[in-house]
Amino acid sequence: MIAKSTIEKVFESSRVEEVLGDFVQLKKSGSNYKGLSPFTEERTPSFMVSPAKQIWKDFSSGKGGTVVTFLMEHEHFTYPEAIKYLAKKYNIEVEETQKTSEQKLEDSERESMYLITEFAKEYYRDNLVKSEEGKSIGISYFKEREFSNEVIDKFELGYSFNKSNRFSEEALKKGYKLNFLEKTGLTIVKDDKSIDRFKGRVIFPILSMSGRVLGFGGRTLKSSKNTAKYINSPESLIYHKSKVLYGIFQAKQSIVKEDNCFLVEGYTDVIKLHQKGIINVVASSGTALTENQIRLVSRLTKNITVLFDGDNAGSRAALRGIDIILEQGMNVRICNLPEGEDPDSFANSKQTDELISFFNEHSKDFIKYKASLLVDEAANDPVKKASVVRNMVESISKISDQIKKEIYIKECSSIMGISEQVLYSTLAQIQKKVLKKNINDSKDNFDSFSIVKPENIKKRTNLLYELEKKIIEILLLYGNNVEDFEDLILKEDENGKLGLSPVNRRAKVFEKIYMDLHEDEMEFSNDNFRKIYYKIIECYNENKEIITDKFLNTLPKELEMEITNIMMNDEKYSLHDWERNSIFPKSKNKTISQLVIETILNLRCFLIDQKVNEFKDKTLINKENKSVLEDVVNYSNLKILLSRKLNRVI
Ligand code: CTP
Ligand code: MN
Repeated sequence: MIAKSTIEKVFESSRVEEVLGDFVQLKKSGSNYKGLSPFTEERTPSFMVSPAKQIWKDFSSGKGGTVVTFLMEHEHFTYPEAIKYLAKKYNIEVEETQKTSEQKLEDSERESMYLITEFAKEYYRDNLVKSEEGKSIGISYFKEREFSNEVIDKFELGYSFNKSNRFSEEALKKGYKLNFLEKTGLTIVKDDKSIDRFKGRVIFPILSMSGRVLGFGGRTLKSSKNTAKYINSPESLIYHKSKVLYGIFQAKQSIVKEDNCFLVEGYTDVIKLHQKGIINVVASSGTALTENQIRLVSRLTKNITVLFDGDNAGSRAALRGIDIILEQGMNVRICNLPEGEDPDSFANSKQTDELISFFNEHSKDFIKYKASLLVDEAANDPVKKASVVRNMVESISKISDQIKKEIYIKECSSIMGISEQVLYSTLAQIQKKVLKKNINDSKDNFDSFSIVKPENIKKRTNLLYELEKKIIEILLLYGNNVEDFEDLILKEDENGKLGLSPVNRRAKVFEKIYMDLHEDEMEFSNDNFRKIYYKIIECYNENKEIITDKFLNTLPKELEMEITNIMMNDEKYSLHDWERNSIFPKSKNKTISQLVIETILNLRCFLIDQKVNEFKDKTLINKENKSVLEDVVNYSNLKILLSRKLNRVI
């Protein structure tokens, strides 16, 4: 884990406008910066960066947060990757904590291996573009395959000399250790001899989502049957075949923008489609699709189009993959290429728009695809037909979204000519089996059974939610303001009659709210708001002030979003030229102190209503109980009083 002190240093040093400025062209606009959303295609800027608040908000996609959230959203870094990226940018040393010496060793081994793969990538690339051998053999091979210079460059393709240990020698000379050369698999050590694994091959570097070199694929240039067409880096500390997708680094931005990912089999398929302008493509590199690979994609989009080769083996591979994709909550479409073609060969003589319209016209959802694939052979065989239908329903059972499930059942019913009723009972059978299995697997796992709330409870919860949200909003926006509060307190007049009389008090908004909530022992019912509230209290105790950047980075992502939304909401107006168009956003014409008092009183009224209802329920059951009745009366009186107060404020 990265040490807390390092994370703090990173947040202290990072300037949101500087970091985001590397990715988005920002223009000063008042006290903020604005630019075009990097998450959508737009012509008018709706992307806002606030140097004062150190947060950003994209009004077109709704995303927003701290500098770290931006790197996670835009570059698809993990949290540690984002911290490390910033540490590098601001020259901060990354300290790691809570690691056993074993873990530390593993880490440093991993880092040593990354240094070597990075070196190797550059070395092979130089070989390809600078050496005579590389140019005459490597480049001419790629040209034969109709690869453009741009994609050769973009995918950092390389060439490994056809001499048994030229790379290994060069690496050792540069000071890289044989031990790590062997661990990355670049060098094979045999009887004191070191041999280059990729000798005489063209090289395809395999990058992680964040662009680190994990391993390589090398293609032979010979057509002999005795040589493997491709060899790949072996499994290692840094290369896990089942967790990588070739091309994901180059494709990630486009996958998000297109909200779809094409999935192909081979290195050359990715590269050729890329060259043809279809950028959102990744390859499973010939292995059966894994859960981990799908999860990588699901960070970017929920839609996958599988583009497998036009032969039977390809189709069967696609079938296996479908259920894995559905299980991950993704939508999957499948597109069959013409017999004998793979995406690379198919794309060769085509223009971008031809390809796109082919993929659009020939993509089928999985039900139609399965039907088309299986129905031919099963058409006149009732037994086979039954198994095809069951196979379809099994796929449907992997979908967790109920509405989607229903749609597919309908579709399956109409294509296969089987009643929905029968399909539902088949589905129920399959699910019962799965449920039984799950229960056996973990006896106490009943979380998935949720209780449905009656409508009126829902409505009341919404009101409570709005009130709690308002309080958080006030705290975040105005918590540090000093205001005059006109409090109404209950007082006896000369005649001993109770009445409300005003008392003026000057206080910080935070203190006022804190005291009031505390006095009534009010707790936030919404988990997120409660957590934010405690963070605010903690921050205030420490700094005598609410400084959001002090705690924003310590919150889970959804809280960070919630706060960012609240804090940037008022900036939305400055995106537009309100003044020139003489349209002014409706200003909050109440004073802040009125807003505070009103919100708290409303919350109190709400809670009292709740209490009264509780008691009413009890009295229904237990009419005899006098003290409960008295409580109801007391609370009702209090409510009347509060309403009077509220009227005076409003
Ligand atoms: N593959 C592999 N080892 C092999 C054959 C294939 O690792 N001996 C992987 C490669 O990642 C390859 C993918 O499976 O890209 C698909 O294989 P195939 O369709 O045979 O190769 P193509 O990608 O079409 O390669 P080429 O066009 O160069 O023949
Ligand atoms: Mn091919």
